[in-house]
Amino acid sequence: MNAADFDYVRKYVREQAAIVLEPGKEYLVESRLLALSRKESLASVDELMVRLRAEPKGPLHRKIVDAMTTNETSFFRDIHPFDALRKWILPEVIARRAPERKLTLWCGAASTGQEPFSVLMLIAEHFPALLSWDLRFIATDLCTEVLARARTGRFSQLEVNRGLPATLLVKHFSRQGVEWEVKPELRRRVEFREMNLLSEWSLLPPVDVIFLRNVLIYFDVETKKAILAKARRVLRPGGYLLLGGAETTINVDDAFERVAFDKTTCYRIKGEANAAGPAATSSTESRPALPKAFLPRVPAPSAVAAPS
Ligand SMILES: C[S@@+](CC[C@H](N)C(=O)[O-])C[C@H]1O[C@@H](n2cnc3c(N)ncnc32)[C@H](O)[C@@H]1O
Repeated sequence: MNAADFDYVRKYVREQAAIVLEPGKEYLVESRLLALSRKESLASVDELMVRLRAEPKGPLHRKIVDAMTTNETSFFRDIHPFDALRKWILPEVIARRAPERKLTLWCGAASTGQEPFSVLMLIAEHFPALLSWDLRFIATDLCTEVLARARTGRFSQLEVNRGLPATLLVKHFSRQGVEWEVKPELRRRVEFREMNLLSEWSLLPPVDVIFLRNVLIYFDVETKKAILAKARRVLRPGGYLLLGGAETTINVDDAFERVAFDKTTCYRIKGEANAAGPAATSSTESRPALPKAFLPRVPAPSAVAAPS
């Protein structure tokens, strides 16, 4: 594609979604625009660009931003954060929130839904008593198209083959033609909403665990700083932030501290281990006391098997 068209798309996407498309990504941008032009029944990327420039900030612009998002995801992606969630993070926040019986989770780049549904399945398997609490699971993304898919709770055979243990597939999904659908009792527990991480987060309640995995990698340092500052504001005292394996708060927002668990690292606001009460610990040595209702079902460490 020509430099002027690449520059137009690059600037617009950066302004709207903070996604950085460096020079050298022309091929990627062109192939995604080609797919979009076909969807829009346009003859070529050139025609798409002409339309785009003729209707500035119209619906086509929105579709361009959506088309430039990378929505790669899978069930129990990178498994270790889910192990940490099961062994330490959820027991700790559950113990802390037991008096109110209220817990809020937020997944800020939910894509097609595999991540929030993985967390919910983990809860259903290992902390089923939590389902009788005031449990809110908010899952947001910028991209309208992936959210529409996530809301259906439907996944292809290929998608369920990626990371989902067969036992969980059989238990939590039903077959719908060639697809698999998350059973309604889990599906209705996730509130899928459109939300740009660049926007104000005023609609978010205080959150106990934030999942912002594999999205900061697309942003420049200033945007990461701004997003992490907002994450600090919505995180409850002692709450946890989970990032992707290639992401960190180190040298971006030093108000966060790393909390090392077995084979993964999560983040918490510095100095809040004590402020949050006796249940909070940054050590994998000590485990918090779980409320009684949770005790019979606390799993052996290997209960959620790493996907093959
Ligand atoms: C690679 S996926 C990560 C999905 C999931 N968190 C995971 O780790 O498997 C990144 C997601 O971030 C979303 N995204 C990109 N920029 C965004 C923004 N400015 N606000 C909200 N979501 C954004 C994309 O639409 C995409 O679905």
